[in-house]
Amino acid sequence: MSSIDRYAVFGQPISHSKSPRIHQLFAEQTGQCLHYSALEVPAEQFTDAVTSFFANGGKGLNCTVPLKELAWAYAGLKTERAQRAKAVNTLALQEDGSILGDNTDGIGLVTDLIGNHAINLSGRRILILGAGGASRGIISPLLAEAPESIVIANRTIAKAQQLVGEFSEQGKLSACGFNELNTQSFDLIINATSSSLTDDLPPLAKDLLANQGSCYDLAYSNKATVFVRWGLEHNALKSVDGLGMLVEQAAEAFYIWRGVRPITAPIIDLLNTERH
Ligand code: ATR
Repeated sequence: MSSIDRYAVFGQPISHSKSPRIHQLFAEQTGQCLHYSALEVPAEQFTDAVTSFFANGGKGLNCTVPLKELAWAYAGLKTERAQRAKAVNTLALQEDGSILGDNTDGIGLVTDLIGNHAINLSGRRILILGAGGASRGIISPLLAEAPESIVIANRTIAKAQQLVGEFSEQGKLSACGFNELNTQSFDLIINATSSSLTDDLPPLAKDLLANQGSCYDLAYSNKATVFVRWGLEHNALKSVDGLGMLVEQAAEAFYIWRGVRPITAPIIDLLNTERH
């Protein structure tokens, strides 16, 4: 049997995933020997697929849409940030055979915003569009950066209100529908809806972005997403997609698994050149 350590990302769909490429680049950069693959796993096969992966020598997994809540339920041990997010994107085999669940999405976003794009969060008014799983994972890490406030706007207001109920003790948080945003403006608007995937956009008032404000789309695409384009058309200081967050959350997972932190900037640069 091969002694090379095996890792993988599970999700559905998964064929477009950049994670195998990113982890291969990390491994080369840090001189680590490992193999990382992408596997299409439907939700109903998740538990069997994970159990079999670890039983056959797998060391760590990433889980993406629609499996993060299932991964949260699967993990015997959870980090505090995973516990709060109620979603897990990283599973790691521990020495005693137990499986640790972590969520590196939020730290990946914050590192990309502050470290790579110099978009500061402290004292800023932040708007999150969407109240699904992607929003859940980022609220707590964003609040930890002491913004003035975070508003969560969603098509289904009850889902935004539910998140406010869960996280409001950590900072100033409120919920509303898109049509209630007309009189407000924000320093940072984060698109956490899945609408970019269908080239769609929630209805956004033209003055929603404050002067010198920035836009960030959690989704990424080879071409500018419809939300990134909206930001550029509305004079955003920066309007960027989630490629950097993808690399940063992967770096955090790599560190959890291997104890070595890759240098992300050259990898992000390389992936950026590859998509044009
Ligand atoms: P994810 O895990 O990616 O967040 P999700 O849990 O299915 O996926 O959530 C998708 C989010 O995108 C939700 O906030 C959804 O709004 P609803 O809660 O009202 O369904 C939002 N969304 C998806 N398509 C949208 C669209 N075309 N316009 C506005 N919001 C949209």
